[in-house]
Amino acid sequence: MTFINQLATSEGRSVTLRGWVANKRSSKGLVFIMLRDGSGLCQCVADASNLTQEVFSLADKLTQESSVEIVGTVNRDERQVGGYEIQVSDLRIYQLARDYPITKKAHGIEFLMDNRHLWLRSRRQWAIMRIRNQIIQAIHRFFQERGFVQMDSPIFTGNAAEGTTTLFETDFYDEKAYLAQTGQLYGEAMAMAMGLIYTFGPTFRAEKSKTRRHLSEFWMIEPEMAFYDLDMCMDLIEEFLRYVVEAVLATCPSELELLERDVEKLEHVRKPFARLTYTDAVKIIRGEKDVNGRNSLKTLENDLDELRQRIEDMQAEVEEREAKIKTPGLKKGEINFNLNKIARLKNELKDLEESAKNIPQWLESARAFEHGNDFGGSDETVLTRLFDTPVIVYNWPADIKAFYMKRANDSSFVKGVDVLAPEGYGEIVGGSEREENLELLTQRIQEEGLPMEAFEWYLDLRRYGSVPHSGFGLGLERLVAWICKLPHVRETIPFPRMYGRLFP
Ligand code: 4AD
Ligand code: MG
Repeated sequence: MTFINQLATSEGRSVTLRGWVANKRSSKGLVFIMLRDGSGLCQCVADASNLTQEVFSLADKLTQESSVEIVGTVNRDERQVGGYEIQVSDLRIYQLARDYPITKKAHGIEFLMDNRHLWLRSRRQWAIMRIRNQIIQAIHRFFQERGFVQMDSPIFTGNAAEGTTTLFETDFYDEKAYLAQTGQLYGEAMAMAMGLIYTFGPTFRAEKSKTRRHLSEFWMIEPEMAFYDLDMCMDLIEEFLRYVVEAVLATCPSELELLERDVEKLEHVRKPFARLTYTDAVKIIRGEKDVNGRNSLKTLENDLDELRQRIEDMQAEVEEREAKIKTPGLKKGEINFNLNKIARLKNELKDLEESAKNIPQWLESARAFEHGNDFGGSDETVLTRLFDTPVIVYNWPADIKAFYMKRANDSSFVKGVDVLAPEGYGEIVGGSEREENLELLTQRIQEEGLPMEAFEWYLDLRRYGSVPHSGFGLGLERLVAWICKLPHVRETIPFPRMYGRLFP
């Protein structure tokens, strides 16, 4: 058996492929089968003139997503996807699929989500999952190459770490337990044993609202480093993000192309990232401070003008194509092509129109932003629009950050850091230097009204050889969404779990 992505090594020879029919069309004694086998796509041509009647009729009756084995000769053909074509010599059907629900026509997102178990077979989803896989590989490589030990933190936990409002409560043999919001506290214990560690596991947050960046179950990578201060931590984050993005650019060019990802935008990670204090970031958001001669409020106003122009142009294109499909004698293929294009344009239009509605609101909230508040999604967008690299924001007001963050010299601030991805993606990393002082940490736990007994073990880390240490958490799905430039995190994980979605 050969895989489609290995056809180059079998040029001119006969191979056996196994897979599914992504698509089929017939014309005058020829059947063109678009075969997908998970590794790639390849056109297979069944020609009635050199096949038995029996084999040809099998090819002829294939339906979308039927499973097959195809034997045939590999021919180089630049014009075909993947650069090869198979001349079919034999064919066997595993199963003839019934009417497959996902067709070439444009489907609504809820329908696709209901059919997620099938939707995963579609080309875009396939590309996203392959990129996700490469990102995961790169993450492990990065840390392993630097001597970090991967250690797993528990999912059943007895204490909250990231605020009590997003806890999933569960029953652990009649004891109250929570699904882990983070592995961090355990990560700190493990770093005191191993020096440099990272966890990579599922984390859970009850986010009772539908947004494009929140999942109820998401995967987090959390390195924790003994003897690292905040600056060292920020350097590591920057090196890490650069490494992972570069790895995807190197390993997934065809997947990125299939997603029509503008890779030049990603290549900006090679430049030093912007680094700002929270206080400077606030000035920039409010339009009181420019960045490289650009002002946040003026940039937004220009964006709005541009957006309105694009909407007009797009509407014109839709009308043009709608007129075109009414042309008498137009080929079916061309009609379908235009219909698809129209559906995609209309979808895009909906997004653009929403942004056009949002921008005036963003402007208002940017002008009114108060120092001390946490950034909302729109504030992050307003800020990151002014940069083409990720933006590292550090030194946050203590009141809006977690209890474990170390106080800055000005004790109303903490040594916390958020990294915001460009192109409107916003926060992908949150981290900090940790409070290593027993008394201060105890006080913070009390102030938060957290149950002290549950944190005794954590406080032990400050009783026995406490050291300065830092760490951060990267949300895998948010990173995938940015790298693939997806409008929503629901497409970044095989089976998303979020408010209103438990099936399939
Ligand atoms: O900023 P957060 O809450 O930080 C922590 O959990 C720390 N304990 C991390 C650490 O220092 N070890 O979450 C970290 C990242 C966010 O920046 C975001 O990328 C992701 O986790 N994240 C989510 N991703 C998807 N859906 C959600 N509901 C998320 N909540 C956080
Ligand atoms: Mg955060």
